[in-house]
Amino acid sequence: MKYRIAVIAGDGIGPEVIAEGVKTLEAVAEKDGRFSFEFEHFPWGCEYYLKEGRMMPENGIEILKGFDAILLGAVGYPGVPDHISLWDLLLTIRKEFDQYINVRPVKLLKGAPTPLKDATCDDIDMIFIRENSEGEYAGSGSWLYKGQPNEVVIQNGVFSRKGCERVIRYAFELARKEKKTLTSISKGNALNYSMVFWDQVFSEISKEYPDVTTYSYLVDAASMFMVKDPKRFEVVVTSNLFGDILTDLGAAIAGGMGLAAGANLNPERKFPSMFEPIHGSAPDIAGKKIASPLATIWSCAQMLEFLGYPEWEKRLIDIIEEILVEGEYLTPDLGGEATTEKVGDEVIKKIRN
Ligand code: NAD
Ligand code: IPM
Ligand code: MN
Repeated sequence: MKYRIAVIAGDGIGPEVIAEGVKTLEAVAEKDGRFSFEFEHFPWGCEYYLKEGRMMPENGIEILKGFDAILLGAVGYPGVPDHISLWDLLLTIRKEFDQYINVRPVKLLKGAPTPLKDATCDDIDMIFIRENSEGEYAGSGSWLYKGQPNEVVIQNGVFSRKGCERVIRYAFELARKEKKTLTSISKGNALNYSMVFWDQVFSEISKEYPDVTTYSYLVDAASMFMVKDPKRFEVVVTSNLFGDILTDLGAAIAGGMGLAAGANLNPERKFPSMFEPIHGSAPDIAGKKIASPLATIWSCAQMLEFLGYPEWEKRLIDIIEEILVEGEYLTPDLGGEATTEKVGDEVIKKIRN
């Protein structure tokens, strides 16, 4: 079996971490023997924009359609406005390929640092299911009378019944399969249409899953409890923007941005899914070769699971944990002195053994 993977390394530390992700996938395929990867690299991103006036070619989505999966580094760099670079590449791919599920593990591995002084690995073990196609990111709005004294901007949240039901149902299925509780995070007290509706859909669907214990939190309280009592959360389902914010908070309590992985899934497999670390292009450390590749490698583990090799997902997470415990090959953000490449080399050494 050969998988065709589109690689969009992107900007800043994107290419540095992606190199290690590609190496990892190649080593896994070689060790396993049942499958192989063919990578095609696309130089799309901010540099491409400065040359070509666009983030990807006009037929970029058509080109990507033929691939089994997409591996993405990071998009966005000073010099190109963020709303252009992100909307015209990353967000376009998520939307065009209906990658409406964003799976983000918030799991403290052994050896990983956490600022929570009393928290153990058992306490921080969540999986976020972030709505990834609409909500606050629907792109609905207007900018009227731009630049004039009576200027008005409108940014609408769009919550469709279909959009809410499918992400909430996905989270229920996962909680049932993993025998875990499910927590919905919303804000119905202030967002009196969208989040009241979200809560209603959550409550309706929960009736189909009497075996799943559910909780519902307001997002402000949820962010407090993630720090004060993270054990409360197992599977979590939330809207696009809340999921974005809470998973950076999740990263902060579970080892940092250098470990935080994500998968943008089209569960129906009608379109390719996309795997990417949740961090950005980190302009502050770009080019220094010190970015942690472990978030990207964890995303590659998610890719392997999605392609049908859950044993490789587990193995890669175990390897990441071994590296954290041994402490010898870690980048500065994780308390070490290793380069990005050295960490990747160590992952590969462990895959081969
Ligand atoms: P960021 O995630 O790039 O960086 C935040 C902090 O985390 C920085 O101090 C950075 O050095 C650190 N960090 C991030 N990844 C790291 C890694 N692998 N190893 C070690 N340290 C790491 O967030 P930002 O600075 O707010 O955004 C920078 C740019 O990236 C912006 O243009 C933003 O829009 C974009 N962005 C893109 C994505 C994406 O492509 N998925 C995600 C987030 C931000
Ligand atoms: C993420 C990022 C993106 C998001 C940005 C860059 C548009 O922060 O993947 O978490 O908000 O989804
Ligand atoms: Mn984010």
